Amino acid sequence: MADGATQKTVTLLVDGKEISLPVMSGSVGPDVIDIRKLYAQTGMFTYDPGFTSTASCSSTITYIDGDKGELLYRGYPIDQLAEKSHYLEVCYLLLYGDLPTAAQLEDFENRVTRHTMLHEQILNFFRGFRRDAHPMAVVCGVVGALSAFYHDSTDITDPWHREVASLRMIAKLPTICAWAYKYSIGQPFVYPRNDLDYATNFLHMCFATPCENYIVDPIFTRAMDRIFTLHADHEQNASTSTVRLAGSSEANPFACIAAGVACLWGPAHGGANEACLRMLREIGTVDRIPEYIDKAKDKNDPFRLMGFGHRVYKNFDPRAKVMKESADEVLGLLGVENNPTLQVAKELEKIALEDPYFIERKLYPNVDFYSGIILDAMGFPTSMFTAIFALSRTVGWIAQWKEMIEDPEGKIGRPRQLFVGAPQRDYIDVEKR
Ligand code: CMC
Repeated sequence: MADGATQKTVTLLVDGKEISLPVMSGSVGPDVIDIRKLYAQTGMFTYDPGFTSTASCSSTITYIDGDKGELLYRGYPIDQLAEKSHYLEVCYLLLYGDLPTAAQLEDFENRVTRHTMLHEQILNFFRGFRRDAHPMAVVCGVVGALSAFYHDSTDITDPWHREVASLRMIAKLPTICAWAYKYSIGQPFVYPRNDLDYATNFLHMCFATPCENYIVDPIFTRAMDRIFTLHADHEQNASTSTVRLAGSSEANPFACIAAGVACLWGPAHGGANEACLRMLREIGTVDRIPEYIDKAKDKNDPFRLMGFGHRVYKNFDPRAKVMKESADEVLGLLGVENNPTLQVAKELEKIALEDPYFIERKLYPNVDFYSGIILDAMGFPTSMFTAIFALSRTVGWIAQWKEMIEDPEGKIGRPRQLFVGAPQRDYIDVEKR
């Protein structure tokens, strides 16, 4: 609010008494009503399960305009970053607020690259899992376990500890995910190669073996890097809010990111990419699409079109647009543009976008609709899709976690409730029940 300007307020009438609540404005986006004193003034809480109308924090990192289909990282549109930037530069942007100079970028890349190896003892930790464990179970467990291996970066009150923990996680997540994959297929772990860029190194750790030379196709590197960039952050989504909530209790950073991984796993969130590809394969052929559209519209059937709809986007998800182009590019260059799954996806998208059910509810394809097709073409099994999402999102979680820790207004997250259970009653001895 400028000097001399009047504070914008809203007035609430409670039992005939007027309560004035301040309104806060951001740099863009809707104003928010500051209800922090509401309980003290009225004895009432607000009720908003699912946080559909609640801003849980203020943030400078990522902005989404769901009606326009706009996604900005630190002000930069996602399509420009996907086209012109690359993942580690985007990581720098998300963490530090501005695009780096060439020298800053080189320094950052060196700092991340120094941390790509895992403590050798972590190998034993991997080996404790069943071979058929889902990679997300392994990633969640290993990320949480990092706090047992890197004690020297768990003091959240020390900015240097926070910085080192951040770099460690950004650097080690590709190694953890690649090793979860290698373990599941019974192949030896491939150690990181610091002469390779971030995306190439990840692909190398996933697909190389010690017995022969493996050169990563630059088309795959570009597609992988784009997938990382498009998933890097997405403001206060479920997993990010989980990380913030876990962090608000001053838990160590590795534990907080493990909490984010666990939340991401669900099919309504990051698990949708795996569920989407399974659905596209189940549909199988274009002629079966109407049957699945009908199922999605039937309120007595729990089936939903995976990769469709979003809490915030009520217009095309801008990430899905870039992802669709990338799918065309990768499959075209592999010479498999007639891939039946891609054909089903394109036709399904077309039919759904013309259907009044989807039009009325503003249900558009989201980021997960096309990402699975690209990852599948690259040779990843579906069980790895969400793990790759977790790898990509780690930087966003960390940037949001750091912002929360450094916020002077920070408080432990502690929502209240509308209690609808039994009021106080006296204990009855078991023989009298
Ligand atoms: N298929 C069919 N109907 C749908 C779908 C869908 N995918 N998504 C929403 N609807 C309907 C829903 O039944 C409801 O209809 P009605 O008003 O008649 O009851 C209406 O649209 C609004 O849905 P909602 O459940 O109130 O919306 P929400 O904001 O709570 O849920 C969502 C958002 C993403 C969980 C949901 O759209 C969904 O389950 N989509 C499929 C899963 C998916 O693709 N998730 C990935 C999201 S993007 C990546 C990420 O966040 O990780």
